[in-house]
Amino acid sequence: MTEDKRVTRLLAPGPAGIAEAGAMLRAGGLVAFPTETVYGLGALASDPRAVAGIYRAKGRPSFNPLISHIVDVAAARRQGRFDSRAERLAEAFWPGPLTLVLPLAPTASVCDLARAGLDSVGLRIPANALARSVIAAAGGPVAAPSANLSGHVSPATPAHVLADLDGRIDAVLNGGACPVGVESTIVSLLGDKPRLLRPGGVPRAAIESVLGESLAGAEEGEASQPVAPGLLASHYAPRAVLRLDAEALRDGEAGLDFGGRFAADGAMVLDLSPGGDLAEAAANLFSMLRALDAAGAARVAVAPIPDADLGEAINDRLRRAAAPRP
Ligand code: TXA
Ligand code: MG
Repeated sequence: MTEDKRVTRLLAPGPAGIAEAGAMLRAGGLVAFPTETVYGLGALASDPRAVAGIYRAKGRPSFNPLISHIVDVAAARRQGRFDSRAERLAEAFWPGPLTLVLPLAPTASVCDLARAGLDSVGLRIPANALARSVIAAAGGPVAAPSANLSGHVSPATPAHVLADLDGRIDAVLNGGACPVGVESTIVSLLGDKPRLLRPGGVPRAAIESVLGESLAGAEEGEASQPVAPGLLASHYAPRAVLRLDAEALRDGEAGLDFGGRFAADGAMVLDLSPGGDLAEAAANLFSMLRALDAAGAARVAVAPIPDADLGEAINDRLRRAAAPRP
């Protein structure tokens, strides 16, 4: 399956359109919706198959952690662990163009793929009331990167969205033009120092004044520190050593299979997709890498995965995961 043809509907911004958008999201569909920054391409954040569809629709060649959009602070506290800094920033800037990267809460429902396998989660409550209605109608957090093809500029109108994604997503909710036009500011609260991961709609100075301290740069912490060529520490790195493009298991190896190629013979083998479906494989990738780590696998043979469609992103991630580490 390399293409995923859909009929893209333009939904009106009233109760019927919102209900329709919510139903589509609950059913695993892809719905673009307006926020105050840019149009987001939404999928139910708890549904790994739906989240895999975001990457496919955007033609994104690698998996980044996505921002999960939340309806209110109570719902946000179920996804991320709030310390006093997070409470203060949420109070000052939510709803609005600020994303907080927080440690994952034990009650979180955002799936591994939406977090790119990390133990943290990016959360924001959008200021756009239509966006919050859609999230409420979806019944849970909505993962949404900007609703454009990978490498294109972010969309500020439904026409921009359709120019890139018509036929690739289920619907666009028409909310007119986005007032802010640049993405949200992203602040990580994972370490002792709060860090600015991406400048955006809320100015740095406003955040620093609420925190009472300065924001460290993204480069000063774990987020962008390369620990191996092409491998960012912000991405989940398995402990196991991976052998890619393996045709068969060797002695002592566990297996990460695709399309039922490996004969297990007592070894631990997880199949990303027994039926050879790349969206299913993408949905399972990070949770299966974790499961192999949890089982103590030291060496893992990984079956060849076709480079087409979502396979490019899966292979990108596997090459990073297999790169030598200090
Ligand atoms: O304004 C916006 O933020 C738009 C609208 C649609 O809300 N959304 C957006 O989302 O730009 P997205 O998914 O493209 O932003 C992804 C970025 C990642 O590249 C990363 O920098 C950060 O959010 N991010 C999300 N979760 C993270 C995590 N757990 N750890 C570190 N960074 C994270
Ligand atoms: Mg973008």
